[in-house]
Amino acid sequence: MNTPSAPEATGAESLRVRETLKALYEYVRPHRWTVVLGLLLALVGAAGGLLQPLATKALVDRLSSGGTLTTILLALTVLVLLSTVAEAFGAHVLERTAESVVLAARRSLIGRLLRLRLSAVDRMQPGDLMSRVTSDTTLLRAVSTQAVVNAATGALTLIAAIVVMAFLDAVLLGVTLAVVLVVGVGAALVMPKIGQAAERSQAAVGEMSTGLERVFGAFRTVKASGAEERETARVEASARRAWRHGVRGAKWEALLGTADNLAVELAFLAVLAVGGARVASGDIPVSTLIAFLLYLFYLMEPVYKLVDAASAYQEGAAAISRIKEVDRLAAEPPATYRPARTEARPASVRFEDVSFRYGPGLPYIHQRVDFEVPGAGMTAFVGPSGAGKSTVFSLIERFYETTGGRVLVDGTDIRQWPLSELRSVIGYVEQDAPVLAGTLRENLVFSAPGATDGEIRAVLARTRLDTLVERLPHGPDTLVGHRGSKLSGGERQRVAIARALLRKPRLLLLDEATSQLDAVNELALRDVIAETARETTVLVVAHRLSTVTDADRIVVMDAGTVRAIGTHEELVAEDELYAQLATTQLLVPAERPAV
Ligand SMILES: Nc1ncnc2c1ncn2[C@@H]1O[C@H](COP(=O)(O)OP(=O)(O)OP(=O)(O)O)[C@@H](O)[C@H]1O
Ligand SMILES: [Mg+2]
Repeated sequence: MNTPSAPEATGAESLRVRETLKALYEYVRPHRWTVVLGLLLALVGAAGGLLQPLATKALVDRLSSGGTLTTILLALTVLVLLSTVAEAFGAHVLERTAESVVLAARRSLIGRLLRLRLSAVDRMQPGDLMSRVTSDTTLLRAVSTQAVVNAATGALTLIAAIVVMAFLDAVLLGVTLAVVLVVGVGAALVMPKIGQAAERSQAAVGEMSTGLERVFGAFRTVKASGAEERETARVEASARRAWRHGVRGAKWEALLGTADNLAVELAFLAVLAVGGARVASGDIPVSTLIAFLLYLFYLMEPVYKLVDAASAYQEGAAAISRIKEVDRLAAEPPATYRPARTEARPASVRFEDVSFRYGPGLPYIHQRVDFEVPGAGMTAFVGPSGAGKSTVFSLIERFYETTGGRVLVDGTDIRQWPLSELRSVIGYVEQDAPVLAGTLRENLVFSAPGATDGEIRAVLARTRLDTLVERLPHGPDTLVGHRGSKLSGGERQRVAIARALLRKPRLLLLDEATSQLDAVNELALRDVIAETARETTVLVVAHRLSTVTDADRIVVMDAGTVRAIGTHEELVAEDELYAQLATTQLLVPAERPAV
């Protein structure tokens, strides 16, 4: 199935080994001393293991010479206990650190995601972005600590074992290494397959989130369209793809596991044959052969560890490349400005020959848009659907950068404004009046966290939400559901307006904010907006004649250009499109309230 976030589209281009290791080091750096401690403890454990065959050799030698075994057995017991405890404690230290690495990666990702530019988010799927925070970060757990320690202890103990084995018998070591080398080369060829499978599996998990997010974003439409089965199949397909790549990865891992077993088994047979001959010929004593064979089995562990580390690295590298991809998306600077509300002066807005398109290769949405709103009062934007009215607001909020020309607020190019300061001046009601999950109160104070209870009560009364609040079981602390689904469309719009008013903006942007209101509420809010417009700059995208006739200035837009600017009377007389809009359904005449 072809989902919008095919792995290629989300750019699962692997990082190079150096970049991956650098990224890995950055994650581990804050915890490097803990990792070193874990490493030391693991080494103590490993050294304990390394000494066991030697102690066994001493024991066998003592046996043949008829000496007492008590001390040597006691020493062996202490050795086993000590190395076990050290290993367990080391493992705990590392697990803890691994969780901290995951937390740090999640924190930086979350912070990054919320600051992404809209143009970057437009290109991505929210579900896929979410899965990078929830799922990919967990793969860092193994690679950031355990794998580092496994690689280090594995390599060190391997070297130590080889040194001791060389000391025991160089010929037998040569036999062993030859076998291990042959199998090792085969294993190295399999490694990248594991990474590839992990990356594809993670991409499929991202698609699964994207599919689910798509369904819950339009749950009622999905049900009303009878699309449950189809959407289930779609999400399931991603789940199956994740399974398929997961199984493929597991297959390669199992093959690797078998390979290192095989290496040791084959080496064992070879050593047994060559060693047996050497014992028979009197070149080495039998105790040396026993010790050597014990070392051979001991060798299994470091080899396992190295293989483990290598496959964890492959999976971790897949996750890191998906996480780092988010770092490469364009983001806004972090908020630096804390609004100290001192002035309530209305803002001025000016578009100077603005041209704009949503992306390279896309059509121009604005072409030389030019208008000026000098201060307090209401300016209405009218025009056919798709004319670029909402885009005007997006540019004022600097959600997107203009392609040409300038947008000025208070006479200053908005690119010169600190972003957070610019936005703190503006109250904005989106076209679809979003309400967030949470309580009504949380929604109201969302853009004005410092609002007092008195202010909240006042704004509830102004937006005629007071009667709603009285009816709600927990008043303003009632939960409103996912995207405010427990409120009516008109209620959601009034909540959005109340939220914008509570911010006490110097510039209020209302995008069709009253389209779903009944006549009584619409009239009431018209008064509220008219009153606000006396001391605030109000820009409104209007679809109702009543809003437009009240406006001090009307900007008529058509296909990305400003056709005309004037008052209702002037425009009816002078602009053909406006006259047409005013007399046809595009601007709906206000109904008289039935009171
Ligand atoms: N994020 C986006 N990426 C690409 N194109 C977009 C994006 N948002 C809007 N557009 C396109 O830009 C054009 C203008 O959109 P805009 O939302 O400004 O229209 P509008 O005048 O507000 O229309 P309406 O009255 O229907 O709300 C539309 O043709 C739309 O397809
Ligand atoms: Mg619009």
